Amino acid sequence: LSALAPAPAADEFRRKNRSLYDRTSGAVWDTVVYGDLHGGHEFINLGGAAIVDRVAAALRLGPESDAVEFCSGRGAVCRYLAERYGCRVLGIEWNARQIAAARDLKRRTPAAAASRIGFRRGDCVAWRPRRAVDAVLSIDSFMLLPSAAAALRSAWRGLVPGGRLAVVTLAAGRKIDHETRRFVWDEDGMASLHSAREYRRMLAAAEFENAAIRDESGRAIAAMARMDRALRLRQSAAKAADAVAFAGWIAVGEAYLEAFRCERLAYLLLTAEKPRKGRKPR
Ligand SMILES: C[S@@+](CC[C@H](N)C(=O)[O-])C[C@H]1O[C@@H](n2cnc3c(N)ncnc32)[C@H](O)[C@@H]1O
Repeated sequence: LSALAPAPAADEFRRKNRSLYDRTSGAVWDTVVYGDLHGGHEFINLGGAAIVDRVAAALRLGPESDAVEFCSGRGAVCRYLAERYGCRVLGIEWNARQIAAARDLKRRTPAAAASRIGFRRGDCVAWRPRRAVDAVLSIDSFMLLPSAAAALRSAWRGLVPGGRLAVVTLAAGRKIDHETRRFVWDEDGMASLHSAREYRRMLAAAEFENAAIRDESGRAIAAMARMDRALRLRQSAAKAADAVAFAGWIAVGEAYLEAFRCERLAYLLLTAEKPRKGRKPR
């Protein structure tokens, strides 16, 4: 948040998280998000399978890889990676109901892939692995954290030397303003909107190397536009009880679309590596 608005307190984060993520199913989620936008995957992100594939490529995931996903939500990214790339993935997730949904997804996953995924409830910033991992990823979540810098340090600590990081996040665009920061906090609990330049500094401060930042805002715009079309198409056929939800999603979606198009928001893919010879863990 900007200097005008002090950082929200921890219990405010908890309240926001519960109001946003205790329930991520229902008419709009099931038909528009998981159905129309994500073709059956229960992703809660804008980039969908295409961005998860980019992340997997950047992390060079394969059957030998051990990965951790920060903020794993309903577990769909972990499942997708295990099924498509054969890697092992542990999801760390703060919200108890998201963890329950992820464990339910694991029960519905064919045994071979199910044996490669697991979910642990907790704050990713406090994550301390028993064994360091090859890869840390996070999709559409860093903007929700009180400190993205602390999450980067947590990822660094958990990686083996030479391990890779890939983070996809909503971020501050070139024309970010106070109203947009206020809007994304009120609507979606986003407290950490950083510019690409700020992320570059944070990655360097956390002692990552070979950092690269790609602007993927075009994907966010395409996803929002697609969701808008699906919402309007399905709205007329929706039950009366769901009318308020549809109208709300359409209004909020329009505001996001405008913010991305006017470069007040951006969608970034950050990749970096932990040096092979580094300092002692902090
Ligand atoms: C937008 S969802 C993304 C879920 C998933 N990455 C995906 O792409 O489908 C963000 C998730 O981050 C979780 N989260 C927020 N703060 C967290 C924290 N400090 N530690 C772990 N999870 C957190 C939320 O509960 C929510 O499930």
